[in-house]
Amino acid sequence: MPDEVSPSTPLSQRPVCVVGAGAMGRGIAQVALVAGHEVTLVDPDADQLRAAEADIVRRVSRKDPAAGRAVHNALTTVRDIADVVARPGTVVVEAVVENLDVKRSVLGKALKHFGSGCILATNTSSLSITEIAAGVAEPSRVAGMHFFNPVPAMRLVEVVTGLATDPDVADTIAELATAWGKSVARVRSAPGFIVNRVARPFYGEALKLVEEGAATIEVVDTVLRRAGGFRMGPFELMDLIGNDVNSEVTRTVWTAFHYDPRFQPSQYQRELVAAGRFGRKTGAGFYDSYPAERPDPEPETPAGDGVTSAVLRGESPQLQTLLDRSGVPYSREDTDGQPVVELPGLGLVALTGGRSASEESLLREAPVVVLDRCLDPGTASALAFATTDQALADGVVSLLAAAGVRAYRIADTPGLVVARVVSMIINEAWDATQKGVASAGDVDTAMTLGTNYPLGPFAWCERWAPRTVLELLDTLWDEYHDPRYRACQLLRAKVRADLAS
Ligand code: NAI
Repeated sequence: MPDEVSPSTPLSQRPVCVVGAGAMGRGIAQVALVAGHEVTLVDPDADQLRAAEADIVRRVSRKDPAAGRAVHNALTTVRDIADVVARPGTVVVEAVVENLDVKRSVLGKALKHFGSGCILATNTSSLSITEIAAGVAEPSRVAGMHFFNPVPAMRLVEVVTGLATDPDVADTIAELATAWGKSVARVRSAPGFIVNRVARPFYGEALKLVEEGAATIEVVDTVLRRAGGFRMGPFELMDLIGNDVNSEVTRTVWTAFHYDPRFQPSQYQRELVAAGRFGRKTGAGFYDSYPAERPDPEPETPAGDGVTSAVLRGESPQLQTLLDRSGVPYSREDTDGQPVVELPGLGLVALTGGRSASEESLLREAPVVVLDRCLDPGTASALAFATTDQALADGVVSLLAAAGVRAYRIADTPGLVVARVVSMIINEAWDATQKGVASAGDVDTAMTLGTNYPLGPFAWCERWAPRTVLELLDTLWDEYHDPRYRACQLLRAKVRADLAS
């Protein structure tokens, strides 16, 4: 490291000052150290500093003892910003408690100490960058650098600009994050940034399904994993995050959006929090006990004579793949309408477009099974369905069993599980893009790297077809007349443009 550093010193040689030595601060300090920076970690709590230093050195040494020693030498810990060597090109990353006044005061103090023109990055997860910056003498120097937990393992950093942020400051922070091995999603300051906003329906819609008695938490989790391709179901994930933390994030986003019903918190989750059932950390949450190896719920068992033939009407990769996987012989017919599978003598099977099975049966004047959608019909190992006809249900269960797919019958609910939850995530992604919060590419990067979704919402929208997603949302709106289901106008415009081309 050069003794003299200034704003013109190459980024890789600038000292980094991380303020706050908690879970996030020590992770940020670690990635900066591993990237070769000299790092000073600041925290008034001496115990935190000691624990942070030990944690960092232990984690780095585990992989490479020599690197551990180098990191130890490059790390300084102090209890006050005033004690940091004041080199002008220092990059400050603030990771103190999530409190507006504390953050403003820390950044203000850092600005005074390191001098005009220093870079002030904040790791806030929920506060407005514009609002934090407005309390600092040089708001143009402040930008968000939102890491995810655990910092060394999570590849995403949201780089967030407030109204006053100098674009060069945001560019520098993005460059730094990239040099530290992270992928960057650029975001304009807005509640929840990308990840904490676009992920809300994963929890909120799943909660609504369970609150409405559509399905159990076990079935929703299983179907979102096995058909949706998510690593964890929403209830398992909320129990892992902590219901106290997860519900607080929802409440913050809901409040910041002026109580938009899209983000309305759940009474069910609130009850759990009130009971101290925070999830894994308290031994119980949505699920009764932790730690527990939980088998997936038993699917419906095949009954009746099974299915010996079928007719596929229209083009549907999902229906066709399921038929192929089942080995049931089928013929094909063209149709102008929605694709369906006819099971002779039993009725029709249609992928959900949002309508309930009873409504589909009335419209088609035949018994109907509505089948949930999935990420990949070639590998899906469970599907939810609804119907009002037992004999048809038996036929579909045996067909799916032959295809190696666990069938879960749920209440006759609009949009079922995966189609409904994912359509709402896609809608939120469109809304964030329409409001100029982030580009479609940045949203997809953020959701695949920040939350490990199997596919970004825009890629998913293309896979299912924007028209299908819009139909699902509009049908949910027709059914509930709840503004949470209002489709984003940009999605509607996209569908019209596709139809016109
Ligand atoms: P934490 O509670 O583990 O650590 C906060 C640290 O800040 C403590 O060590 C505390 O002593 C220190 N601190 C408090 N006031 C200070 C001051 N005036 N000067 C210096 N240090 C001070 O919190 P955590 O989880 O590390 O979060 C830090 C920030 O990162 C918060 O803004 C949080 O919202 C954000 N964040 C947290 C994530 C998480 O999963 N925990 C994920 C992304 C962002």
